Amino acid sequence: MNSISQGGVPGTRPEGVQSEKEAAAHVREMFGRIAPRYDLLNHLLSLDIDKVWRRRVAKRFTAILHNPSARVLDLCCGTGDLALAFRREAPIGAEIVGSDFVPEMLARAREKVAAAGAGITFVEADALALPFGDAGFELVSCSFGFRNLANYERGLLEIFRVLKPGGVAAILEFAEPRGKIFGGLYRFYFRRVLPRLGGLISGNGSAYTYLPSSVSKFPSPEMLQAQFERAGYAAVRFERWTGGIVTLHCARKQ
Ligand SMILES: C[S@@+](CC[C@H](N)C(=O)[O-])C[C@H]1O[C@@H](n2cnc3c(N)ncnc32)[C@H](O)[C@@H]1O
Repeated sequence: MNSISQGGVPGTRPEGVQSEKEAAAHVREMFGRIAPRYDLLNHLLSLDIDKVWRRRVAKRFTAILHNPSARVLDLCCGTGDLALAFRREAPIGAEIVGSDFVPEMLARAREKVAAAGAGITFVEADALALPFGDAGFELVSCSFGFRNLANYERGLLEIFRVLKPGGVAAILEFAEPRGKIFGGLYRFYFRRVLPRLGGLISGNGSAYTYLPSSVSKFPSPEMLQAQFERAGYAAVRFERWTGGIVTLHCARKQ
């Protein structure tokens, strides 16, 4: 039985794209193009709330981050902001590794980490075929990257593989808020205002049209929770933050 017949969705499919391979190539090329303006737009379009979200994730895992023998992997790390939030939470502590498949994003991440004098290692890697051995990490995180994977089921299984028994997966993703008034206002901003602003500033209109469209196609928190459980995780939970704009999913490998 495949993931679709079990009630899942295969993974991201940007407009006009049919296969997993094409989807991954499209995503990689898109992030390569927007990398120079990615941070500016992230902070501007979210009114800096993205920084609060990443700090909140870091606070959630202080025990792991402060443990000098722990290893933490931040998947789809982009320009390194979540990995940096982890390092700020625990300046000396766990080993932190960030991975992403777009070299332009990793180049920015390395510059920022060097400027901050923070100890973080970055590795170019596809989240669907990680170059890490089994059971090596206490925490595997992914902020705003999971939605872009071409196969969500494989993404969850790959995270499971690299987690130590007892380790935790933490996925922070956008969601569509449910309330009528706030939801309506948010959809107007997300679908009408953000693509225009993002397109103008980044010079890449399609990337910021892809953002709301990929969020609307992403599984609901309940569906993703079920997908985590099918992948073998225990203690699967999610929390809606900021009126449901984002959801933090946490799950444990037993
Ligand atoms: C929206 S950005 C998020 C970056 C960062 N985590 C943050 O919080 O700002 C999504 C990132 O996921 C990366 N990505 C998407 N699919 C990937 C894959 N299959 N393997 C590795 N990285 C991937 C992209 O290159 C991009 O840097």
